[in-house]
Amino acid sequence: MRIVLVGPPGAGKGTQAQFIASELTIPRISTGDIFRYNVTHNTELGRKAREFMERGDLVPDEVTIAMVRDRLAEDDAQDGFLLDGFPRNVPQAETLKKMLAEWETRLTIVLELVVDEDEVVRRLSGRRTCRRCERVWHLLYDPPPRDGICGDCGGELFQRDDDSEDTVRHRLEVYQDQTAPLIAFYADEGILVGIDATGPVEDVTSRALATLRPYVR
Ligand code: AP5
Repeated sequence: MRIVLVGPPGAGKGTQAQFIASELTIPRISTGDIFRYNVTHNTELGRKAREFMERGDLVPDEVTIAMVRDRLAEDDAQDGFLLDGFPRNVPQAETLKKMLAEWETRLTIVLELVVDEDEVVRRLSGRRTCRRCERVWHLLYDPPPRDGICGDCGGELFQRDDDSEDTVRHRLEVYQDQTAPLIAFYADEGILVGIDATGPVEDVTSRALATLRPYVR
């Protein structure tokens, strides 16, 4: 299956992507995670992406698309993948469509996580991520057993630089301007399905898997 997860910042894409990818045994490809890894390790790609990410702007398409093309060409993505955070605007979606057509394939489904803006702000302000295993926690909704320490691996938890209040507000504007038009794009393609992404994480996962299962071949 070739799946795209779409939704505003904080909708729970990363949280759900890990469960869905593991259940369907396909790789999860998160452009945000790949960029953050490269920023942390100060690679050439990280140096190109850093300033855009810090402001909450999109990294330029030529940088992002080249990175995704390389990742999708890897062996583990040949039989399916779950894209989290890409595409992020209509030009990226059109390029992805062409790229997959060159490889004689196409997207199976685009799953939209539907959450309102107030909930998204609550989720992002409480998010903490593990430096070691990248597990995502929430101070209220999914608290780690010990303050500042990952309950899975014991790593240190940190707050993402782009989760400050001003940057979150800007990321939401960028989403409305540039990413929300993807909803109409994929509805026109006939492959968009939206699910309610509010409520407990496990309930959202059940809804997502119930939506995706009929497409599993
Ligand atoms: P990216 O990392 O993709 O950020 P994002 O889209 O803003 O999404 P987030 O990671 O903030 O949220 P999420 O939906 O994954 O939510 P999560 O599961 O963590 O991108 C970061 C930056 O990279 C961009 O700003 C841009 O600069 C650059 N970039 C990336 N892709 C790009 C592209 N294609 N083109 C150009 N630039 C690109 O959940 C959030 C919190 O809520 C967590 O604490 C979680 O525990 C909690 N939570 C989750 N589900 C629930 C629930 N059901 N109930 C209660 N709490 C919940």
